[in-house]
Amino acid sequence: MLTAIAPEAEIPSVAVLTVPASVHRIILTGFMGAGKSTTGRALASRLGWTFLDVDALIEDTHACTIASLFENHGEDAFRRLESQAISRALGRRNTVIALGGGAPEILTNRLLLEQTPHSVTVFLDAPFGELFDRCMLQPGAAIRPVLADPAAAEARFARRQPLYRRIAHLTVNTSGKTLNSTVDDVLTGLHTIRA
Ligand code: S3P
Repeated sequence: MLTAIAPEAEIPSVAVLTVPASVHRIILTGFMGAGKSTTGRALASRLGWTFLDVDALIEDTHACTIASLFENHGEDAFRRLESQAISRALGRRNTVIALGGGAPEILTNRLLLEQTPHSVTVFLDAPFGELFDRCMLQPGAAIRPVLADPAAAEARFARRQPLYRRIAHLTVNTSGKTLNSTVDDVLTGLHTIRA
């Protein structure tokens, strides 16, 4: 007797748990609130890799919060420390790296990202309003220097969008998505590109 084949929608999807062998590190970029750290941690844990947050690396290295670096030394000084931290982070293997939201504005950082082999950069995208609301719900929102002036933050967002796209090998839309489905989209997407 012939048995009916289940329609495609009923076939359970198999979660992707590997990355192509040519990929040694995954770099997450996007504006504040894009979920770079949350997604990065979940992605690293699924892969059995390490997670590294560049903001945390700067804070640990200089024993100083990002907010006080901005306040006491200015944004330009912060950006120089950020470039040094990115350069160190890019030496890591089997690591998911979350960049700070402003990193792609600096040419040195874009060149570092573009010229480091075996690295895949993923842009986590969402509309400004959604990102701003997500940031406001996070603990510590009040001490994020770049959010102090919402109109200026929106101008930064607009200026950065083409830069995020330029450095990314893959763009994942996170709007309205759960953490798991964002991680799935990143892992599936990695198999569609060449590192
Ligand atoms: C910044 C984003 C922050 C941090 C710093 C500056 C920015 O990182 O690097 O406050 O210019 O957008 P997150 O995007 O991880 O919040």
